[in-house]
Amino acid sequence: MNLFRTKSVEAFLEDLEKGPQLKRALGPLALISLGLGAIIGAGIFVITGHAAASYAGPAVAISFIISGIACALAGLAYAEFAAMVPVAGSAYTYAYATLGEFWAWFIAWNLVLEYMIAGATVAVGWSGYVVDLFKQFGIHLPSYLTSAPIDILTSEEKEKLLQSGYSLSFLEKYLNLHFTGSYINLPAVLVILMVGLILLIGISESAFVNNIIVIVKATVLILFVILGFGKIDFSNWDPFIPPSTGKFVEFGWTGILRAAGVVFFAYIGFDAVSTAAQEAKNPQKDVPIGILGSLFISTLLYVAVSLVMTGVVHYSQLNVAAPIAVAVNAMGPQFAWLMLIVKIGAIAGLTSVILMTLLGQTRIFFAMARDGLLPDFFSKVHPKFKTPYISTIVVTLGAMLIAAIFPIGLLGELVSIGTLLAFSIVCIAVVILRIKRSDINRPFKMPFAFFIAPLGALGCILQMVFLPLDTWIRLAIWTIIGITIYFAYGYRHSKLNKPE
Ligand code: ALA
Repeated sequence: MNLFRTKSVEAFLEDLEKGPQLKRALGPLALISLGLGAIIGAGIFVITGHAAASYAGPAVAISFIISGIACALAGLAYAEFAAMVPVAGSAYTYAYATLGEFWAWFIAWNLVLEYMIAGATVAVGWSGYVVDLFKQFGIHLPSYLTSAPIDILTSEEKEKLLQSGYSLSFLEKYLNLHFTGSYINLPAVLVILMVGLILLIGISESAFVNNIIVIVKATVLILFVILGFGKIDFSNWDPFIPPSTGKFVEFGWTGILRAAGVVFFAYIGFDAVSTAAQEAKNPQKDVPIGILGSLFISTLLYVAVSLVMTGVVHYSQLNVAAPIAVAVNAMGPQFAWLMLIVKIGAIAGLTSVILMTLLGQTRIFFAMARDGLLPDFFSKVHPKFKTPYISTIVVTLGAMLIAAIFPIGLLGELVSIGTLLAFSIVCIAVVILRIKRSDINRPFKMPFAFFIAPLGALGCILQMVFLPLDTWIRLAIWTIIGITIYFAYGYRHSKLNKPE
């Protein structure tokens, strides 16, 4: 049994030459915009509030800086790979070329978290903003149709239930989950259905539409920062790092690190730039610019937004579905117009992130089916629409199901831990390939790779360490399912079994 058989970089490049040629149309600005389109979403519009309220307070701004640095290091690793093997499949492909099939599968399985489950997560955030928008017009959508039927049971809630003599079910006792009484998160399901249909008929992710959405969401955030700045009540920042409550990761420096792992979600998507390497005019130069440029801009925006958010309203009030809206509300009635703009900006911005993440997922399944690790039908292209339609249907249904039942906190942390794991493996893979295949032409080389790459991996692992034990357990369950599928299907059907 050879679990670590690799598909050589040359074989990928050969596949690339044989395959359809994409138009090289994207310059550096288009790539940065593509990155921002995939990056700015539920992380800043939703999750920041929870991270500030539960773990870091105003110091969530520091969490954003820590997480942004770790992403930049991983981003350099992505840039090196993307310039060297500019083919579809992203980290999955890089791992296949370096660490071997088992790790490639393992990464791909985590990328399902990064793409499909992230798409579902952002859809749940989208639902929160839509419900809020309706409320602004006096329409109250019932929560049993707009929230998750399953939610996390905190240890305090568990404690209370036990004290009241209630006997916990299996779900409550071992998985810390409970039923909320809601039936379905319908808006989240509907937005995924809509995005799935767009992907199916292949209205190509036109750079034009993406650019407009990026401009809208960036403008909304900048407006919020500028107008909110004058409304900051500095007493909300005092203390800037709230002292630890005594519980591990509740405020203090450990809280900042926990929040870094949580808000890491906000940076996910920069690797979308690497998947566009095949369409870049000058991938060697422009892909690194696209990755690092979009990371830099989003870090600046995130830090500024989180500072203003925790400045205009006390962090303890931010654990809500639409925290920026709460902050705008606190700015006073004269800003009612901004409230509407923020919500519309968030809804548009989140939609583009859902589109990008689900698109990424279909392309990864496509690449895996091409290599035999998934059934052939995943790479079937629709005769009329020219899209991988079966992949698209499976991904859409999967994301709809997840978004229908789970809450954003649970999903977001699972996405973060899976993606952090994938990123750390990519960092390690850079070093391994430098040693194993120093001969390959590397149009872009990560500077000081033997130092920076392990540091990037460490940064990612550090953020994982501070995520909750429950999230680790969910990751472990997820991994066991993935490995079982690999041995039951992937290993036996891999094209590497049948050398031509
Ligand atoms: N970074 C993306 C978001 O925050 C996934 O929505």
